[in-house]
Amino acid sequence: DSHCLPFRLTILSPNPNMDIFADTADIEEIRKLNELGIIDGVTTNPSLIAKSGREIREVLAEICELVPGPISGETVSSDAEGMVREGRWLREIANNMVVKVPLTPEGIKACYQLSDEGHPVNVTLCFSANQALLAAKSGATFISPFVGRLDDISSEGMQLIQEIRMIYDNYDFSTEILTASARGPMHILEAAKIGSDVVTAPPKAIWQMFNHPLTDKGLKAFLDDWEKTGQKLGQSG
Ligand code: E4P
Repeated sequence: DSHCLPFRLTILSPNPNMDIFADTADIEEIRKLNELGIIDGVTTNPSLIAKSGREIREVLAEICELVPGPISGETVSSDAEGMVREGRWLREIANNMVVKVPLTPEGIKACYQLSDEGHPVNVTLCFSANQALLAAKSGATFISPFVGRLDDISSEGMQLIQEIRMIYDNYDFSTEILTASARGPMHILEAAKIGSDVVTAPPKAIWQMFNHPLTDKGLKAFLDDWEKTGQKLGQSG
């Protein structure tokens, strides 16, 4: 029964807690979310670093200091040798740095080498379950399937997360599924229902998870009623 599939798979998922990463290099946005205690890590990419307008080493060091979880920084070389060199450089920034490499044969080769040296690797730009299988085989710590960009071309992004979940669980691969390119709260919700280990989303989408008109309406009624009592709470005497 296909309706039962996501729930069964959730139980088999290697990570019992669903992690939420902030997909941004904006330090102020990260700081605001981090104060809520709901952020487990951060992902960046060359476009996000460019958008921050800051020097890569400096901004990544600051993020690593602020958030104790995994912080992804991406390589920009196109050959494995260059990616490995950049990966080692990134890993010197802080112990919680994760090296992000693209899902190309050279990226997979670099992932294999870096993982073998004990560095955590996030394989990015994944758009198919076969690509995710290759990343797991090469020892990736995280695989980043891009759901939003698949939706953009009228493909079902979440279908890919379901397929990868099934394949990884079939063989007990320890690579964590990091649902990426999430664009809104529904992507986060769907990823959680499927049993994605992690979802990375822009701060705006994470804040949107709070929204419910009944919360606002209920709170207003509580405070209006309280006001009528004329009492003060938390003041002695
Ligand atoms: C992944 O880690 C990328 O940084 C990101 O999720 C891509 O998102 P976008 O498709 O919204 O650019």
